[in-house]
Amino acid sequence: MKNHNIEPIRLAVFASGRGSNLESIMNNIKAGRLDAKIVIVVSNNSKSGALELARNNKIPAFHISRLQFETDESYVEHLLGELKKYDVQLVVLAGYMKKVPVKIIQTFKHRILNIHPALLPSFGGKGLYGKYVHEAVLEYGNKVSGATVHIVDEEYDTGPPVYQQCVPVLNDDTHETLAARILKVEHEIYPKAIQLFAEGRVTVLGHKTIIADPQTM
Ligand code: GRF
Repeated sequence: MKNHNIEPIRLAVFASGRGSNLESIMNNIKAGRLDAKIVIVVSNNSKSGALELARNNKIPAFHISRLQFETDESYVEHLLGELKKYDVQLVVLAGYMKKVPVKIIQTFKHRILNIHPALLPSFGGKGLYGKYVHEAVLEYGNKVSGATVHIVDEEYDTGPPVYQQCVPVLNDDTHETLAARILKVEHEIYPKAIQLFAEGRVTVLGHKTIIADPQTM
């Protein structure tokens, strides 16, 4: 629930693909449910729907890829420079297919979020993305799956969870039907998780996040 007494949190959204999570974050801001402003969108993929969506909404949007730079250092410095230039407070990964450089993770400690289409720590890690996640869930025979918003650390999908929600796995599910059911949940919980940061309600203690007033999540 939007709190009108707080300043919008300044978001960078990193996305590689179609950008439906970016769109849902934008819609929640427009609808007044999320105290945030997307100040920059970054993609490693010049053809991503996310860049197009951002540009159509007059949000600064940049194609930034390691391939454009001679060294790792110059790439990281450029990325970090953009985040500083736009005074970014929270980095939101929304289908970003590249590992975030360690220096950025350290600079934005506990201020980078990711969303994963399963209930971590199950069905996460390197290689478990997109349809591979849902295929693995179906093959294992799990009865529930879901989505997890978590803080990003140096590994794939291992940081502290912030928000999780389940969905049932149905007998006749395919990876497509399961993905669609979970995507709907992603679009609901990612804006809610970001709002918790906007309201300053998230504290990280070891691997746990403590959410203030969890009954109002
Ligand atoms: C989502 O399923 C998300 O969980 C995963 O990548 C997908 C991105 O979809 N990390 P979209 O580009 O936001 O539509």
